[in-house]
Amino acid sequence: MAILDIIETPDARLRAISKPVEVVTDAHRTLIADMFETMYDAPGIGLAAIQVGVPERILVIDLQRPADDTPEDADPKTIKYVREPRVFINPEILWESEDLAVYNEGCLSVPEMYADVNRPARIRASWLDETGAAHEQELDGLLATCLQHEMDHLNGVLFIDHLSRLKRDMLLKKLEKLRRSAA
Ligand code: NI
Repeated sequence: MAILDIIETPDARLRAISKPVEVVTDAHRTLIADMFETMYDAPGIGLAAIQVGVPERILVIDLQRPADDTPEDADPKTIKYVREPRVFINPEILWESEDLAVYNEGCLSVPEMYADVNRPARIRASWLDETGAAHEQELDGLLATCLQHEMDHLNGVLFIDHLSRLKRDMLLKKLEKLRRSAA
């Protein structure tokens, strides 16, 4: 496995429309393993193949919730997270609820920046897993939000595109300033 470079905005590759996977191959499974390693290392809860430069409709998600026996006052650095890796190939949204949910979203391609985004609270989605098997399920909560965020990447859309121009420009200026101070 390998940790891959994550592409950051304003790289034009993030605006590419990713292509459907026709047959899931060993090469895809290697890419998926590398994407998980890259995501856990970052760390993040979702990653689209295009974020590591591969324009194919492949996503990995792991919400990494704290273990059930975690005390409420636990030190964030010592919390054990339960890993539940999920692979979505050629995901489609079949239905979405009218009611919206708001989450303070971030993105590994827009590092350190966060903003509230409204999306349908529940969706019905279909996808293939890494064996090529088809799935269809109704999803809600953070998983529904995360899948919609990652699916946006497949269509060249970033979470900042859902914000007002003013808010987006503010975040991008903040990011530029952060990069300058880190350089
Ligand atoms: Ni993202």
